[in-house]
Amino acid sequence: MKRGIITGSSRGIGLATVDLLTNNSNTKVIGSSTLGNHTLSRSNFQCLKLDLSNSNSITEFVDKIGNVKLDFLINNAGILLEKWDASTIKIQQLKNTFDVNLFGTIELTEKLLPLFNSKAHIINITSDWGSFSELNFDAFQPHYKMSKTALNMYTKLLAKRLESKNITVSSLDPGWTKTDMGGKVAPRLPKDVAFDILNLLNNDVDSGQFWYQGKVREW
Ligand SMILES: NC(=O)c1ccc[n+]([C@@H]2O[C@H](COP(=O)([O-])OP(=O)(O)OC[C@H]3O[C@@H](n4cnc5c(N)ncnc54)[C@H](OP(=O)(O)O)[C@@H]3O)[C@@H](O)[C@H]2O)c1
Repeated sequence: MKRGIITGSSRGIGLATVDLLTNNSNTKVIGSSTLGNHTLSRSNFQCLKLDLSNSNSITEFVDKIGNVKLDFLINNAGILLEKWDASTIKIQQLKNTFDVNLFGTIELTEKLLPLFNSKAHIINITSDWGSFSELNFDAFQPHYKMSKTALNMYTKLLAKRLESKNITVSSLDPGWTKTDMGGKVAPRLPKDVAFDILNLLNNDVDSGQFWYQGKVREW
């Protein structure tokens, strides 16, 4: 039996990933949404309330999980607060974005560290928009981009820290995906990304890498 957490499982990529992983009755998933609601009913799935911008909420989430052992954590929950053509820095929006995409995600991960089994896999869902190698780089969505770039660095730092424990840490770029965040014209489907995540979990890969569609990509 494998057990793990997928944050942001109420919609989009998170929901598709829970759907795919819980098709296997040997996998148990704890999901999250900001209200604790979910649309999926499976005996091997439970959804808990989690607001990554709120430290108390993170503590309550971890307390509810209790003393179980974890084989994976998919840090999928994220926000994009900016308009797609916005390039001006707005400090409050920058802070709000970092609160969820970076600080809350790191706080949750650090609080869960004692629960991971050896050979566990932590996957941080970041973005091409958080990479230095983005081909069509522009000045838009600065808050979101900086939050994902910093999360990529956390992947590398945590991978080093957890080397001796044999825990793998990866970043995954889902590509532009049809969700509330990605919009209707995005070419990828949430289930495509769910397969990428499942494949990454099923393979014995080097830690501290950035993945896109099953291949290591440039940071
Ligand atoms: N879609 C794309 O094209 C794309 C591209 C690159 C990277 N990504 C990344 O992929 C991940 C999933 O994106 P998506 O497109 O599936 O997004 P989405 O459809 O907007 O879903 C976002 C999820 O995050 C949760 N969430 C929002 N605010 C939260 C908070 N304060 N605390 C905890 N959870 C919160 C939402 O829960 P509620 O339903 O309760 O609000 C929801 O489950 C994100 O990290 C995103 O940055 C997406």
